Amino acid sequence: MDDLFATPDPAQRVAELRAELEHHNRLYYTEAAPEISDADYDKLFRELEQLEGKHPELVDANSPTQRVGGEPIEGFEQVRHLVPMLSIDDVFELDPESTDTPEAELIEFYQRLRKNLGREDIAVTIEPKIDGVAVSLVYRQGRLDYAATRGDGETGDDITHNVRTIRSVPLTLSATDSGPPSLLEIRGEIFMPSEAFAAMNEERDEQGLPTFANPRNATAGTLKQLDPKKVAERPLDFLAHGLGAYEGPELATEDEFGRLLESLGIPRNQPLIAAANLGETLAAVGRINHERHDLPYGTDGAVIKVASYEERRTLGFRSRAPRWAAAYKFRPEQKETTLKAITIQVGRTGVLTPVAELEPVLVSGTTVSRATLHNQEEIERKDVRIGDTVLIEKAGEIIPAVVKVIAEKRPAEATPFSLYDHVGGQCPSCGGPIAREEGFVAWRCGNFECPAQAVSKIRQFASRKALDIDGIGEIVAEALVRRSICTTPLDLFTLEEHQLGTLNLGSDEEPRRFGEKNAAKVVAALDRARSKPLDRWLFAMGIRHVGESASKELARLHRHLDDLPDSEILHALRDSARLEEERKRISPRNKDHPPADDAEKEERQKQHDELKQRISELEQRIAPYEVSPDVGPVASDSVLTFFESEAGQHVLKRMSELGLRPESANHLPKPSEADAADLPLAGKTVVLTGTLSVGRDEMKRLLEAKGAKVTGSISKNTDYLVAGEGGGSKRDKAGKLGVEIIDEDRARRLIG
Ligand code: IVH
Repeated sequence: MDDLFATPDPAQRVAELRAELEHHNRLYYTEAAPEISDADYDKLFRELEQLEGKHPELVDANSPTQRVGGEPIEGFEQVRHLVPMLSIDDVFELDPESTDTPEAELIEFYQRLRKNLGREDIAVTIEPKIDGVAVSLVYRQGRLDYAATRGDGETGDDITHNVRTIRSVPLTLSATDSGPPSLLEIRGEIFMPSEAFAAMNEERDEQGLPTFANPRNATAGTLKQLDPKKVAERPLDFLAHGLGAYEGPELATEDEFGRLLESLGIPRNQPLIAAANLGETLAAVGRINHERHDLPYGTDGAVIKVASYEERRTLGFRSRAPRWAAAYKFRPEQKETTLKAITIQVGRTGVLTPVAELEPVLVSGTTVSRATLHNQEEIERKDVRIGDTVLIEKAGEIIPAVVKVIAEKRPAEATPFSLYDHVGGQCPSCGGPIAREEGFVAWRCGNFECPAQAVSKIRQFASRKALDIDGIGEIVAEALVRRSICTTPLDLFTLEEHQLGTLNLGSDEEPRRFGEKNAAKVVAALDRARSKPLDRWLFAMGIRHVGESASKELARLHRHLDDLPDSEILHALRDSARLEEERKRISPRNKDHPPADDAEKEERQKQHDELKQRISELEQRIAPYEVSPDVGPVASDSVLTFFESEAGQHVLKRMSELGLRPESANHLPKPSEADAADLPLAGKTVVLTGTLSVGRDEMKRLLEAKGAKVTGSISKNTDYLVAGEGGGSKRDKAGKLGVEIIDEDRARRLIG
């Protein structure tokens, strides 16, 4: 390959490298028989990358370097299929409305074939039906030209940018003796292998991302992405099962098509069972039903196709489906078992999930002893009780689910389940308070220091956009928690370099040390984190509803973390939302709860107007801050609730012990300071005494918002004493010093 004496021609070397990489890619992904090590593959890959970098004219969309995903696209172009993408009309499944069994329908289908072809025995093939998304791959002169979805069968979306990232889709076809066909349209299925799907969902759950209901949804969702780099991260796979447009050497049977695919390096769906007659056909369907749980992908049926291409042409089509193909749907295996208990799992993001603990049963190939019940609402909807006999199946043949309760078998002592009561209102992992947000079904533990959430909280804390502690990823965070070195993110600040260096990231049998160098880096990053600005710290704490932009806005409005619990702005935002709810509730025009009589109507109108007044005061008070919608009542409530909780108090205390006092980098002076001179009470000093109808704190805020300075004791510099009921000694002193004494009404007029 490397001729020492030849002048290397970059174009030729690039072509060689591409062919070689595609060859090894195929051995690895399609044939599962790699011949070179990952390191050697990477070496070739890097050489190609470098050459392409140096010679932009040689860049090619079908280069193996494009598998990591090219540039995002703006939207999907439409492509017209060369040959319509049909589907299968003859789908045989168990129908509770009908007396026909799927077996009987399959026999009828076979009899129609007999009648149309005028023969008794017809050769067919039987293969599993892949639960994925149909795709059409068009190769011209052995190069992938485009890939498209089915769409309406006539035109589909061009998804080439995404399909290129799927390693089992060849970008160039391996050469055969006669070269690749000039045109080859492959029909197949893109899917997510069951195991990879489960792992991806688990990871998403850990990261607090929504999980996918089944592999097919995950696949369809992924293929709709505009950014191929995101697609490249998802474990998609491809298998071929049919032929569309074709120009090349004559193909007579499914068998010959299979050999062509093999020679070109295109992976084909397996097993492909040949059956020579009806008996063999039924047996093959039975065999696939039996073996389907061992397949790497989810399947709920088998596809039966006439083997001879000549006979397919004779049979032809009916509207949008061929007469030569049928699908047989397997019934999902369902088993009855008893629900022994309901336990509560605290997820890594703090969600409390009820889990059914079952008497173990074998379902679709594996023993099932637990199934998620999702949430309290689901338990109520299905009326699941402990002690019940329940019907279990695997949703999408993968995730165990409780289908329903067998009501007739309910024991007398079975009682309804309440998640909240079961855990006594406390997180079963840390004892922290649990809460359910409005509009959400899930109960959550909001404790920053909850051990069940330790790993995810530490990761969030150390992430790039938070405190950017490089070196603390999933594996290190897990090891720190597993070895009880850290139970909360703040524990990171007590780590010693030596302790980190010897941290075992592996198992006891196969230890793997974190290493001194890495440890030194982490310690340095932790040191830098100490002086990171407040917005980073806020984001790092992972308080619900406080994302990046809310953190920035909170830091603009406050100087220190410990200013938040008493924040005038946050209290006003929360209070005005609460008062607004109350206002709506008591409004005499509330249709759900109308006043009983005129007297009540009048009373409620009065309260309503008062509330309206208070809300408008609150709004006016914070108006000068021009708070962005990133910090609304929901975020405010979340922040205040957090700092009011024991957990939040503990965080503040711990931070002060650790000498951590993050400061805002973008804090704006209070508008009252900036524009103080313009406010009606600017320069006035006021003292409060006696009982005021709104409370003294409230009056203090109102006055301050108008520019007044409110102090605790009277001096000759005091301008006004606002005196409510009582309040003797200050009154006397004001009198002596000649300070003007005003009542609440007068004070309100001054405030405006
Ligand atoms: S052959 C003319 N084989 O199921 C259609 N289809 O409704 C012939 N599918 O659109 C299809 N696995 O996307 C065939 N092994 C398989 C399949 C399969 C999944 C999809 C395919 C088709 C739909 C049938």
